[in-house]
Amino acid sequence: MTVRHLLAGLVLGAIAPLSLAAGGGALMDYTPDVSNSASVQRGAANFMNYCSGCHSLRFLRYQTLAEDHEVPEDLLAENLMFTSEKPGDHILTAMPSEAATGWFGQAPPDLSLTARARGADWVYSFLMTFYVDPSKATGVNNLQLKGASMPHVLGHLEGYKVVAEGEPKEDKGGHGAHKGPEFEYVQAGALTPKEYEAFVRDITNFLSYAAEPGAKERHALGRWVLLYLFLLIPLTWLIKKEYWKDVH
Ligand code: HEC
Repeated sequence: MTVRHLLAGLVLGAIAPLSLAAGGGALMDYTPDVSNSASVQRGAANFMNYCSGCHSLRFLRYQTLAEDHEVPEDLLAENLMFTSEKPGDHILTAMPSEAATGWFGQAPPDLSLTARARGADWVYSFLMTFYVDPSKATGVNNLQLKGASMPHVLGHLEGYKVVAEGEPKEDKGGHGAHKGPEFEYVQAGALTPKEYEAFVRDITNFLSYAAEPGAKERHALGRWVLLYLFLLIPLTWLIKKEYWKDVH
């Protein structure tokens, strides 16, 4: 038993740094909180306002979102859905993909699985690292997705910034690995940097939820499974005792 534990520890210890290193570059740490329904709801409303014009969430139904995060039906219809839609519908975009390809060089991808495929860290970092780049048709570039054809659709909220000269400095905020690149604002937005960061956290939480709507139930179920296994220990021990009692 102890040898097995030791081996498992060694293997995990060897793998963990590899998976961390795979992020690389200017990736910022972000652990999504999909159990924070208030945040997921704000993220959903902001997604509908600022993102759904271009991006769909083909695998998520309005109804599922409402049930998982306790959104009353009238609020769902009022705040999240466009008038012609029904709660059972999937979250689609109004943008015809052929026209989008003409405008952006490519159709904006469906974001259903992005938070899982790219990771929440990546989505968070992507939304945090748009910077001014006059050589681009959109006027901006992105540190996570060099040459991204997505405009900075949140520019009026965040403001516009340029990458500061020199090496990115260590974050002194005591977050350890949280090492963000340095930017300088050239134009302020409607939100303060702190408020914008909270806005991005909400959208990232929502997209992480959308990428795996079952996660909440899976975690809740996991607790019961562990409890069941735990209760099984003394029973199994009693059975073993009973079974071996006549063997000497
Ligand atoms: C005006 C259209 C438009 C809007 C609005 C828009 N996007 Fe995009 N987005 C794009 C395009 C085009 C791409 C493809 C960029 C590329 O690959 O160069 C993209 C790419 C992305 C990606 C990267 C996907 C991947 O895996 O490569 C993410 C994440 C993303 N958008 C999130 C958002 C979020 C969140 C919002 C709302 C705040 C939003 N987008 C609003 C057009 C848009």
